[in-house]
Amino acid sequence: MLEKLDEIRSNAIDELSNLQSLNELEDWRIRYLGKKSTLTQILRGLAALPLEQRKAVGASANEVKALLEAALGQKRAALKEEELARSIERGRIDVTLPGRPLALGRLHPTTQMVREICDIFISMGFQVIEGPEVEWDYYNFEALNIPPDHPARDMFSTFWIDTESGERPMLLRTHTSPMQIRVMERTRPPVRVVVPGKVYRYEATDATHESMFYQIEGLAVDENITLADLKGTLYEFAKRLFGAERRVRFRCDYFPFVEPGVEMAIDCFVCGGSGCRLCGNTGWIEILGAGMVHPDVLRRVNYDPDVYTGFAFGLGVERIPMLRYGIEDIRLFYSNDLRFLRQF
Ligand code: PHE
Repeated sequence: MLEKLDEIRSNAIDELSNLQSLNELEDWRIRYLGKKSTLTQILRGLAALPLEQRKAVGASANEVKALLEAALGQKRAALKEEELARSIERGRIDVTLPGRPLALGRLHPTTQMVREICDIFISMGFQVIEGPEVEWDYYNFEALNIPPDHPARDMFSTFWIDTESGERPMLLRTHTSPMQIRVMERTRPPVRVVVPGKVYRYEATDATHESMFYQIEGLAVDENITLADLKGTLYEFAKRLFGAERRVRFRCDYFPFVEPGVEMAIDCFVCGGSGCRLCGNTGWIEILGAGMVHPDVLRRVNYDPDVYTGFAFGLGVERIPMLRYGIEDIRLFYSNDLRFLRQF
């Protein structure tokens, strides 16, 4: 029995020195000190031994037990320490490594342009408002003097919205002009607003045509507003946006909802008017359509055209950064290519 205890002790101590992990150590504990271990069996069986043997075996068994328990404690502490050291090593931070760069967001070039343009009009006393992109035919066309068979509908290829038969026709607005009507319907003069927003045209896309783009509408209605106010306001706008030396040119144009209608051009800021690629050798760059609000439009919103007059204008937003930065394809704006977008 004493030899058996000796053997247990030396096997246990041998094995213990080779253990690598706390899991293995636990197996070891169960094997040598657990309830079913030989050592525990021996200690349990002591009472059955003759007195002399009981003393010797009991002393030795308890000694082995105490020794193994002490060794277990030491080994456990050592393994824990090793494990901690390993985990510290694994998680070590090299403070000399460069930090991860945070990508900086920026505003889309169109957003920047919308803000720049609106700021100019805000400083002249205009208010910025927005309106729906899904619009009734009434606001987009009818109320703007474009009845169903009017040839001006051809200027705007339209995305129609499916509606139940008998329902009023609905569409994606083809311009921001419907907001002229919506604003005048809900306020009385004086009116001074600019309306930025998306518009849609059902057209094949190419370098100068997108099916979605931005416009900014302007509307000013009050007593005694004349074509001179339109010219003065838009001239000031052109100078602020394109430089104080700019000259402007107004020519007649036709839009059903204004009378007279004009188109405004600025002298080419690349060649100064002598003719170049940007201005197509004309010396002039057309930037917007405008005109005096048609009396029929005023009447439709219950503004008395003998008392009130007004001017309206509409301009395409993307065209301006295209001119400024020599961007040759409007489709770049909405194709989400970061190589393009990061330049602004
Ligand atoms: N809505 C017109 C267009 O999209 C532009 C315009 C607005 C013209 C206001 C005159 C007055 O072409």
